[in-house]
Amino acid sequence: MSHEKVETNVGWLAILIAVVISFGGLAEIVPLMYQAEAVKPLPGVKPYPPLELAGRDVYVREGCYNCHSQMVRTLRFETERFGHYSLAGESVYDRPFQWGSKRTGPDLARIGGRYSDDWHRVHLLNPRDVVPASNMPAYPWLEKAMVDPAVVARRMKALQALGDPYSDEDIEGAAAAVAGKSEMDALIAYLQGLGRNAPKG
Ligand code: HEC
Repeated sequence: MSHEKVETNVGWLAILIAVVISFGGLAEIVPLMYQAEAVKPLPGVKPYPPLELAGRDVYVREGCYNCHSQMVRTLRFETERFGHYSLAGESVYDRPFQWGSKRTGPDLARIGGRYSDDWHRVHLLNPRDVVPASNMPAYPWLEKAMVDPAVVARRMKALQALGDPYSDEDIEGAAAAVAGKSEMDALIAYLQGLGRNAPKG
């Protein structure tokens, strides 16, 4: 088929463009599905404990990802500021992942342990109390809303069905682990766990 014939026939042009793009897509995407290091957890990476899992749901529900990424890039100024760059094997249990590229606030992939629980509490109640120039919203309602233990156990069961290695005992113990905890407690537990399994150095 000559070039002219293809370029003057919209139907053929559309079909052939679709074929070419599909090949490009397949060549890029399919190998990733079989690449061990992209789908296997790094050593030490485990599914989230119940309280952190509940906190992660709060994080997603409140839209923290609209201003915070969780992916340190391989650039010197990023690793100097945040720590070791992120690896795919750190987030195999993140559904949905929180990598992102929007950074109105700093990246949070390595925030765990950087501040005390009390600092996070004050900061989430009113960011201006600890960072006067902050434009981050306040989240005072998290302190009054309680985590629903039944929901956490069901969430873990669903993740278990998807292949996350939760044992039945983990799921049975979930309700006790989150009983009496507020959404604020859960969110702080989640933040304090971020970067726990980052490669050292
Ligand atoms: C409108 C944008 C915006 C949203 C939404 C937002 N933040 Fe922030 N966040 C910021 C900015 C800007 C900063 C830097 C100033 C500060 O520390 O308050 C920040 C800082 C932080 C820090 C301290 C980071 C550091 O390295 O010092 C944490 C932790 C944090 N945010 C958590 C959260 C959580 C959890 C949520 C959701 C409940 C959230 N943020 C929602 C903008 C936002």
